[in-house]
Amino acid sequence: MKKIVCESYKDMCRVAADIYTGQLKEKPNSVLGLATGSTPIGLYKELIRRYEAGELDFSNAQSFNLDEYYPIDSTHHQSYAYFMNEQLFDKINLSKTQIPSGAATDPMAECARYDEEICKAGGIDLMLLGIGHNGHIGFNEPATSYHVGAHLVSLTESSINANSRFFGADEKQPTEALTMGIGHIFSAKKIILLISGAAKAEITRKLFEGMIHTDVPACLLLLHPNLTIIVDKEANGE
Ligand code: GLP
Repeated sequence: MKKIVCESYKDMCRVAADIYTGQLKEKPNSVLGLATGSTPIGLYKELIRRYEAGELDFSNAQSFNLDEYYPIDSTHHQSYAYFMNEQLFDKINLSKTQIPSGAATDPMAECARYDEEICKAGGIDLMLLGIGHNGHIGFNEPATSYHVGAHLVSLTESSINANSRFFGADEKQPTEALTMGIGHIFSAKKIILLISGAAKAEITRKLFEGMIHTDVPACLLLLHPNLTIIVDKEANGE
């Protein structure tokens, strides 16, 4: 595991964007695993900037997002599909983008289809992750056992509360989600975990204790052979 502590959130996004630049140079047809949440927004901005400056080309690459609320329509402004279009997909030239469908009538069939698509693409080359306050990755919530494949998950109170800030008082916040399982996250060739802000200092400290807490899903990542954790000073407790 490689840990990089950055002076600021901006630096963190630049360091992460450098990894993408290297990845796409090395393998232009990379399969990118992408995340939502506020943490990757600065990275997405930097990727867009580099694309517009002609420094990055995504035309041979494709992406799979980690998760999506369920049920939710992709046109809903809080869906992760909407978020990704706004924050990244509409502004760069990825050849293909995929997100589990929050509008699928049969969520189990949708999960099986998503797993199959990831397998057909040859798995994820570079997986981007954020972390929930409770250590969740994607929407793999703290548990004693974890799904290998994509699945429908009931969100914990902690995750519902953390994400409630995005929903208006009159909007119904989904309490379930479809998420990539630990298996596909883990079989990614490289993983980048971004952690920013003082509110994540406690979970960051736990992550770096040098112990595998089985009820902190992100701890499982410490077993991955090519994991880079990029934190800013606040998240690092400085
Ligand atoms: C959501 C997403 C996660 C993300 C987490 C943290 O729960 N499903 O993939 O890592 O939010 O979000 P933020 O970066 O806003 O703290």
